[in-house]
Amino acid sequence: MLNIAVLVSGGGTNLGALIDAQREGRLGGGRIRCVISSRPGAYALTRAKNAGIPAEVADRRAFDSGEAFDKALKALLKQYETDIIVLAGFMSILGDELVGEYKNRIINVHPSLIPAFCGKGFYGLRVHEAALDSGVKLSGATVHFVNEVPDGGAIILQKAVEVKDGDTPESLQKRIMEQAEWRILPEAVALFCEGKIKIENGKAIIIK
Ligand code: GAR
Repeated sequence: MLNIAVLVSGGGTNLGALIDAQREGRLGGGRIRCVISSRPGAYALTRAKNAGIPAEVADRRAFDSGEAFDKALKALLKQYETDIIVLAGFMSILGDELVGEYKNRIINVHPSLIPAFCGKGFYGLRVHEAALDSGVKLSGATVHFVNEVPDGGAIILQKAVEVKDGDTPESLQKRIMEQAEWRILPEAVALFCEGKIKIENGKAIIIK
């Protein structure tokens, strides 16, 4: 069984989807060992506690540097014997050393079809604002491995979602969460925990 650490910063609806999947036996045998929030007041912490999952805070603002923050994260990850890290609405960028230590074992969900509307500065509602500004008719979500390039690692799963006339960033965000993120994130974590993802030439391949 693989120990999953879920890193969060906000509402934690993607964490909720992972908790539901675990309850229903859809997490490929992985278990959510702990939830770590970069923000003390995040509702995701309440979701973790309600589900009986250890909830920890590594307050990004309390650290002078990214290195000090990563060091605190690393200590928590070790404490919970983490095998795989899932970034579920985690709004900080992990340093190269931490990424290197968990190479091909960190998974992120991003609310667009990468390589559109991603990279530094594209997070949360900003992603959907950019999609609406561009006039695309389809957006969606991507689950990918994390490497040193923000939103640049190998893509595991993607799902397209329609952009509708009159959409606001909020309405598009909601549709993408419901139709894409909450489905493909648990699915990708399950595939990983079942050993069904291999990396070849920098690309993620699902073993059927
Ligand atoms: C989600 O839409 C997630 O994809 C996005 O933030 C939201 C968090 O919601 N993540 C990013 O933008 C990361 N670049 P949640 O806290 O309810 O899961």
